[in-house]
Amino acid sequence: MANKTWLVTGGAGFIGGNFVLDAVAAGVKAINLDALTYAGNLDTLKSLENSPGHVFVHGGIGDRALVTQLLTEHQPDAILNFAAESHVDRSIDGPAAFVQTNVVGTLALLECARDYWRELPDARRDAFRFLHVSTDEVYGSLGDTGLFTETTPYAPNSPYSASKAASDHLVRAFHHTYGLPVLTTNCSNNYGPYQFPEKLIPLVIAKAVAGEPIPVYGDGGNVRDWLFVRDHCSAIVRVLEAGRAGGVYNIGGNAERRNLEVVEAICGLLDERRPRTDGKPRASQISFVRDRPGHDRRYAIDAGKIRDELGWTPATRFQDGLAATVDWYLANTAWTQRILDGNYRLQRFGGGD
Ligand code: NAD
Ligand code: DAU
Repeated sequence: MANKTWLVTGGAGFIGGNFVLDAVAAGVKAINLDALTYAGNLDTLKSLENSPGHVFVHGGIGDRALVTQLLTEHQPDAILNFAAESHVDRSIDGPAAFVQTNVVGTLALLECARDYWRELPDARRDAFRFLHVSTDEVYGSLGDTGLFTETTPYAPNSPYSASKAASDHLVRAFHHTYGLPVLTTNCSNNYGPYQFPEKLIPLVIAKAVAGEPIPVYGDGGNVRDWLFVRDHCSAIVRVLEAGRAGGVYNIGGNAERRNLEVVEAICGLLDERRPRTDGKPRASQISFVRDRPGHDRRYAIDAGKIRDELGWTPATRFQDGLAATVDWYLANTAWTQRILDGNYRLQRFGGGD
């Protein structure tokens, strides 16, 4: 990784931010293009303020002139596309923004990448990669059994997952039509430091600590597979370095849990670390609320391909990653508070109560 230059999009978001921190620490020069939507947060990258390994550029992936200028100026060895609108509930209220960034924006980025890649000298053209970060949600919803593999047919159910599916198809098409050396990763639910508190785990921590009702959608029986964010970052590096051009890799955490189990585990961790003054368990704050429209019941990943082909497996057990995450949010309340002092108040999106 050392001495490489990567154009990272969405590197001020949750996963992209963790990725940039790790990549720069490993000696990569990261050109970080981020539009700083509500989800982008430069506080995450404070430790890189004086680092020559990090160049932050405020702008969108759909801005062809800007992307072309960055490619010409920095001559990256790879492009990693994390930039997206990422919250399912917000996509229910306003799907257009998801199509604009995830589909139209990704298309612009692909076109710029293709034109840049074509002009590279032979050795650098062979080594160049465009890695697209996608989601297991493109495969739709599972019943009680079964796992998503890389050949599971796409069946996206939310405007968010439909927009990610469309972007995956464009990435695939750019490989087949133009030969662009792409890689696509489809991963499960990430958790860890620096996640915007609209998502389940940081939302539950924030609501629990604030003494507010903790909203569990429906019966709490929906199942997600949980992947510690730094494991996801290491998987992406592995795919970038050794994945087959044109390949698709599923990434999972081997940690399927029902939502209610996750919420109760967070409550238990907080009871140990930050007991309520009235002695009641935090789980007493759990409140079952109206379900998400079109709520996918279960996601589960078969991560056999990345294990067998690239030798990658997740390093973090869910109970350890969750405890580390709770500890991080308790130790970094200022990071969350800055968000809550802005435009977000832990409210629900997507047609709930
Ligand atoms: P996030 O919402 O935390 O961050 C997204 C980042 O993209 C933000 O910094 C935002 O400012 C930036 N952005 C948005 N529109 C942009 C644009 N037009 N140009 C440039 N930057 C733009 O998202 P995340 O959770 O970090 O997800 C990152 C990627 O991983 C997304 O593509 C998402 O679909 C995918 N993914 C996320 C998860 C998860 O559990 N969080 C799981 C699977 C896949
Ligand atoms: O599977 C990967 C996907 O995981 C990513 O592609 C998305 O970008 C990411 O946001 C995430 O989507 P989910 O919809 O699974 O994540 P979210 O944190 O919004 O919700 C997780 C589960 O918890 C889901 O079943 C809905 C439920 N939930 C969520 C919230 C915010 C609740 O029960 N209560 C809540 O308040």
